[in-house]
Amino acid sequence: MFQESTAEAWAARFGTPAPEGLPDLGRLLNHRSVRDFTSEPVPVAMIEGLVGAALSAATSSHLHAYSLVSVQDPARRREINQFCGDQRQVAHAPWFFAVCADLNRLVSHAPDPAMPDAVDTVEMYTVACVDAALAAERMVVAAESLGLGTCYIGALRNHPHEVRRILNLPDHVFGVFGLCIGWPSEENFPRIKPRLNPEQIWFREQYPAQLDVQEFDARMTEEYARDGRDEGVPWSARMARRASLRGLNGREKLQEFLQAVGLNRR
Ligand SMILES: Cc1cc2nc3c(=O)[nH]c(=O)nc-3n(C[C@H](O)[C@H](O)[C@H](O)COP(=O)(O)O)c2cc1C
Repeated sequence: MFQESTAEAWAARFGTPAPEGLPDLGRLLNHRSVRDFTSEPVPVAMIEGLVGAALSAATSSHLHAYSLVSVQDPARRREINQFCGDQRQVAHAPWFFAVCADLNRLVSHAPDPAMPDAVDTVEMYTVACVDAALAAERMVVAAESLGLGTCYIGALRNHPHEVRRILNLPDHVFGVFGLCIGWPSEENFPRIKPRLNPEQIWFREQYPAQLDVQEFDARMTEEYARDGRDEGVPWSARMARRASLRGLNGREKLQEFLQAVGLNRR
């Protein structure tokens, strides 16, 4: 699993041959979200390694503005999953982490708790979410290098008040997403999922006057058909639907939660 060469992974990802001279990128192009895990346990020492990798990520101003809460107790995992849309990978992954933006540490360790008086700003909230995401992605990359599979769980934001209660999160802490980790099941091991072509993401010098997603829409229509999910709706329309209020699953109310826990107020 994750066995494609860099050139094979490139072709699967972008639908074009790999550029001349592309270096061997190990497994960096081979990512896929894994939702079916074997029951084989993942040794704690491996997870300690992944946490070490997470902590080795760059962190804005050396703040360490995030925390990782692993949820292994079966009853607690069930309860969390109830508020994450009851997803099979959350139920069965040997490890589940709630990845949290965390400004509590700054407040609780300040010589004067009134000193970090900007923890409620959009800027500090952004810093904490970026820190959390960088750490988690490094964990994912490390996991995949060991042959482990992962799946992020944005649905952790569907019911933030419940997640706060279940995980005992203090003020200034917010569960940004979950992360499932385990050994991928050989059955249902997913294909590499296409991405926009590099030209549609990497702009030289300035943002272009027009974006072009036609090529990707066509490629994704083929992908949906391969999966039996072709509803005659192209990728761009599906993503617009995802970015509508209807597609947010109640998460449009997040601002109210964030403000209640002392974040993102101004
Ligand atoms: C922050 C974040 C949250 C996500 N949340 C979920 C989720 O709740 N459930 C799920 O099945 N996949 C989730 N995903 C996985 C995406 O659907 C997946 O990355 C995307 O479709 C691309 O597929 P790939 O990861 O296999 O390349 C999430 C991904 C990210 C980055």
